[in-house]
Amino acid sequence: MTDQATDTDPAMEPDIPGKPTSASRTTLSHIMTHNDTNLLGTVHGGVIMKLVDDAAGAVAGRHSGGPAVTASMDEMVFLEPVRVGDLVHVKAQVNWTGRTSMEIGVRVLAERWNESDPATQVGSAYLVFTAVDADGKPRRVPPVIPETDRDRRRCQEAQIRRTHRLARRRAIRELREKRAAEGFED
Ligand SMILES: CC(C)(COP(=O)(O)OP(=O)(O)OC[C@H]1O[C@@H](n2cnc3c(N)ncnc32)[C@H](O)[C@@H]1OP(=O)(O)O)[C@@H](O)C(=O)NCCC(=O)NCCS
Repeated sequence: MTDQATDTDPAMEPDIPGKPTSASRTTLSHIMTHNDTNLLGTVHGGVIMKLVDDAAGAVAGRHSGGPAVTASMDEMVFLEPVRVGDLVHVKAQVNWTGRTSMEIGVRVLAERWNESDPATQVGSAYLVFTAVDADGKPRRVPPVIPETDRDRRRCQEAQIRRTHRLARRRAIRELREKRAAEGFED
């Protein structure tokens, strides 16, 4: 990955029509069973992460109109344990779009499968998906069009995360280059 997404001058590229957030927003629901538990008897975090990746992937594919791969997953937060018999809802939407990548925001909610108490939030995550062509090369995505104040806030927050991701990668790369120049071999 480069900090500059491409050598192509974006100003020279034809516009792609935007797509509203609601066009690709998706919810994936799943009842947790004994197959999903860890050694403590609650649901394994990896089971939730797979559902998060699946839901985000569906959103990325719908928004970009084709294949998209997970480039990163960050800020995966588990707020409450999930139990066998919980009906888990994984809600995902495009928060932000770049040239070929998209940030997908995901919220995980859980409710007892046979009770009418409201669902509570048990986790959240942010994933970056990159749209790819048949050769696996990044391809352009339609700009997302936020529709509500909440969508606009999420878009602004996603830009802050994007800035920090790039800055962190650059800082670590520079440190490694400096250490290599000083003769460290790790
Ligand atoms: C994601 C992937 C296509 C990026 O390819 P690349 O040659 O590094 O492409 P670029 O550097 O041009 O990056 C393309 C876009 O992805 C973004 N991106 C790439 N790596 C990223 C990362 N680690 N975190 C966040 N964004 C990333 C870039 O910012 C860029 O976005 P933009 O065009 O909107 O500015 C490539 O690394 C890949 O195929 N990875 C494997 C994906 C996969 O298999 N996922 C499933 C895991 S099993």
